[in-house]
Amino acid sequence: MLEIRNVNKSFWIDSKEVQILKDISLKVAPGEFVSLVGMSGCGKTTLLRLIVGLDEEYDGGIFLGGEKIKGPSRKRGIVFQEPRLFPWLSVERNVSLALGDQQRKHASGTVQKHLELVGLKGFERVSPKQLSGGMAQRAAFARALVAAPDVLLLDEPLGALDALTRIHMQRELERIWQEEKTTMVMVTHDIDEAIQLSDRVVVMSSRPGEIKEIIPIALPRPRDNKSHDFLVIKNQILAHFQSQAKQYFSWEI
Ligand SMILES: Nc1ncnc2c1ncn2[C@@H]1O[C@H](COP(=O)(O)OP(=O)(O)OP(=O)(O)O)[C@@H](O)[C@H]1O
Ligand SMILES: [Mg+2]
Repeated sequence: MLEIRNVNKSFWIDSKEVQILKDISLKVAPGEFVSLVGMSGCGKTTLLRLIVGLDEEYDGGIFLGGEKIKGPSRKRGIVFQEPRLFPWLSVERNVSLALGDQQRKHASGTVQKHLELVGLKGFERVSPKQLSGGMAQRAAFARALVAAPDVLLLDEPLGALDALTRIHMQRELERIWQEEKTTMVMVTHDIDEAIQLSDRVVVMSSRPGEIKEIIPIALPRPRDNKSHDFLVIKNQILAHFQSQAKQYFSWEI
């Protein structure tokens, strides 16, 4: 279980203390897929950085399996919008680097298994420069999963892909999640993607970032984004964005 308990986070911006996250509390069950959506700047990446242990300056607590998170650990993986592979190392080497020295000794089977899981069998010796964007992101998924993390954090993982590759990769991500049963917390700007993949969608507001609503998605998988029930949920989420846009920018959308 991942538990975020009453988290408050501020940054000093222009010599002023600005509250970025306000009283965030959320429990994510083992194997659950949760998405975070909210307007740009509402603190989604900041929250993922706290969960991964890259920033420990906040109030409240974040616990994984009952233990307070302190610093980065192989138990918590992260995938960013861009794959961040080392271009001078092969795909296989990039993935195996995510393992500890001990794990690496017995790793060739594990690395191979994860390259197969993400559909990169046969590309072990290839340089990341020879991969397409979608393939490179698959390698990043393999690298994030190879150490068998308890939770995988995804920060707009498909955001840099073209529309068709993105839809294909959404299906792939759903399959990978179903096979690995890893707990996933994903930030996305794509509401369809959030509904397509998640057990629950967390809608955040900005300035400060607060949880506005947590929407359970009880639709059977694979989901049809043209179905009535899907569109009802989509409109429910969009209504939050509409009221925010009105509040902050006087936009009507
Ligand atoms: N290191 C930092 N120092 C000061 N302010 C920061 C720092 N990191 C983030 N912020 C501020 O915190 C707020 C939230 O940033 P964050 O990157 O978490 O937003 P986000 O929801 O991920 O946005 P986006 O959807 O655009 O990625 C922003 O106003 C940003 O300017
Ligand atoms: Mg962000």
